[in-house]
Amino acid sequence: MHKMKKNILVIPGDGIGPEVTTWGKAVLEKVASLFGHEFTFQEALMGHVAIEATGDPLPAETLEKAKESDAILFGAVGHAKYDNDPTAKVRPEQGLLKIRKELGLYANLRPILLFDELLNASSIKPSILKGTDILFFRELTGDVYFGEKNRSADGNTASDLMIYQRYEIERIAHKAFQAAMTRSKRLCSVDKANVLESSRLWRETVQEIAKQYPEVHTEHMFIDNAAMQLIKDPKRFDVVLTANLFGDILTDEASQIAGSMGMLASASIGDGIGFYEPIHGSAHDIAGKDLANPLASILSASLMLDISFGLKTEAELIITVVKQVLAEGFRTNDIADESTNPYQVLGSKEMGKLILKFIDQQVYSH
Ligand code: IPM
Ligand code: MG
Repeated sequence: MHKMKKNILVIPGDGIGPEVTTWGKAVLEKVASLFGHEFTFQEALMGHVAIEATGDPLPAETLEKAKESDAILFGAVGHAKYDNDPTAKVRPEQGLLKIRKELGLYANLRPILLFDELLNASSIKPSILKGTDILFFRELTGDVYFGEKNRSADGNTASDLMIYQRYEIERIAHKAFQAAMTRSKRLCSVDKANVLESSRLWRETVQEIAKQYPEVHTEHMFIDNAAMQLIKDPKRFDVVLTANLFGDILTDEASQIAGSMGMLASASIGDGIGFYEPIHGSAHDIAGKDLANPLASILSASLMLDISFGLKTEAELIITVVKQVLAEGFRTNDIADESTNPYQVLGSKEMGKLILKFIDQQVYSH
């Protein structure tokens, strides 16, 4: 067996971030000890906690540690205080956007992993959902997120520039087409080319790249239609390729296919370090109450093992164990329904510990 030595940076962040990354990290430690890998961990600040400590949502020290690491496990950033104060100049989210840009994390992979056990946790009918398996490629370092922002002197006019350059579309399109080749060879590119010039460049570029992947069946869809189709008939999608803002919105919508935001993991990659995080936010309403679902962070750890380290067996083991825990009826609050035994509704800690125990059992039974 190939033993690996890796240096992992954990950035817990704000709200429920620390409560969930604790378990993502614990799972990585468990896997390392069982498979003989050597993972060392460092920690760093980002978001509101970093503003409180240093005045900066992304302190230089965090960025340095990030650049020196082999992969990053991130929790969440955000604070209600800023959500209700649109005038705040320094904001927790700036830390996340800056680290994405600085590390060149231009491709955000968001797999909609639907466990059959959770078919009833969704607000969509099980018959519509069953068999859904979507992989989103959301562009992450361009678009209206990073375009020039302006506010007029009188304060009454504001703008955010929606901007893309051809190379930015090309590089993520290649990643999405390559993934489509390993899946069912269907790719849907989502844009708003009937209205937006940046979307016309997007569509033109994707059409060009598609020629290099003749085996992939490519379709183009407008964002409004895609938002509708996603809940009408999610199975029609396989790989979905889209821009930063559209992808942000569409993947929150898609999380309801998987039953809860608390279930979805994501990988942000570029040409170097990988950055792994749940798609959910800091959820201050439930922070510190042991209510957060740690499975998205645990599944993010699985994505790290797979994508950054190429440890497929270890990565799949985690998914198997999550499935097993769900099959045995255990749930966190967000994924429990009427049929759940109330004694099997677990807090973050109990769920995390149970996952570790099941990993042990899986490994020792083989
Ligand atoms: C996400 C989040 C972020 C985004 C926020 C926290 C800046 O919603 O990762 O989806 O908009 O990209
Ligand atoms: Mg989002």
